[in-house]
Amino acid sequence: MASTAHDVLTAQFIAEVRRDLALSPKQLQSKYLYDPLGSSLFDAICRLPWYRITRSELRLLSRHAREIVDALGRSGSLDGDGTIVELGCGSGEKLVILAEALQDRGASAHVHLIDISSQALEQTEQRLTRLHFSVVGHQSTYEDGLRTDAAARDRRGRVLVLLLGSNIGNFDPPAAAAFLSRIRAMLAPGDLLLLGADLVKPVDRLLAAYDDPLGVTAAFNMNLLVRINQELGGNFDLARFRHRAIWNAPAGRIEMHLVSGVRQQVRVAAADLDVRFDAGEHIWTESSYKYDPDQLLAMGRQAGFPSSRQWIDPDARFALTLFTA
Ligand code: TRP
Repeated sequence: MASTAHDVLTAQFIAEVRRDLALSPKQLQSKYLYDPLGSSLFDAICRLPWYRITRSELRLLSRHAREIVDALGRSGSLDGDGTIVELGCGSGEKLVILAEALQDRGASAHVHLIDISSQALEQTEQRLTRLHFSVVGHQSTYEDGLRTDAAARDRRGRVLVLLLGSNIGNFDPPAAAAFLSRIRAMLAPGDLLLLGADLVKPVDRLLAAYDDPLGVTAAFNMNLLVRINQELGGNFDLARFRHRAIWNAPAGRIEMHLVSGVRQQVRVAAADLDVRFDAGEHIWTESSYKYDPDQLLAMGRQAGFPSSRQWIDPDARFALTLFTA
């Protein structure tokens, strides 16, 4: 029987849970937060008053959509259709803004979506199909999605890659640099990368965005344990773990952790794994790096994008940077 995208992801989930819970400190990969419940919780996070990234990015996109889509055309105006590849499309709201701007210019684009969440792909596909865009969804990690190079093989006109929502910040700096270079490698001169990234701001605001008073972010993080229990036969007792967000100032990142309240042992049957926790021991589930605007420009240059334009939302301290290959 042919293995499906879902089987491949489950096998990878088991292997990475086994590997990462044996590390010191223990870890779990943040990409596994996005099962259907996790994706819904994340959509709720995006509506929280304390999490301003999404609203800020939507505002910047609306304001500059026309400049962005015009860059997809050669010689300053759109002369046919382009290709858009979105890495981590979420619910598709941001792509709709660009799609509508393209339509206002009498143009269209062929769209490829790469996302680990089946729910995110379905929502985005529906939204774009309603606008009569041709859409191909790839349920995979970024790495595998880029490796298959679906979009580059299928390119029409210029290619615009979208990496929004400060998803770049979930990679540590060497991995972020390698990832941007990997994106550059699939592009030709004149192609574009639109990068949305969160900026450094006062610590209390950063912490509230990742540890909100309603507990939605805590539920989002804890759902990773629910998922391991359901999909991998784990027996995590949720009452014995709690969510914690930390600002790591020297590293310039928010870290998300799940902290064991007591000394305990947990079994994950599918991984044939017994894990011991000390009281107060952490599982590190995510990093979210925060940047200075110039740092983002330098990262793009180093990855092989010689030119860029940057728009900053001064209230939310968020930057949208359009790099040209
Ligand atoms: N890319 C988002 C960010 O870094 C992801 C995110 C938001 C997230 N809130 C979270 C990840 C809470 C884990 C836990 O802002």
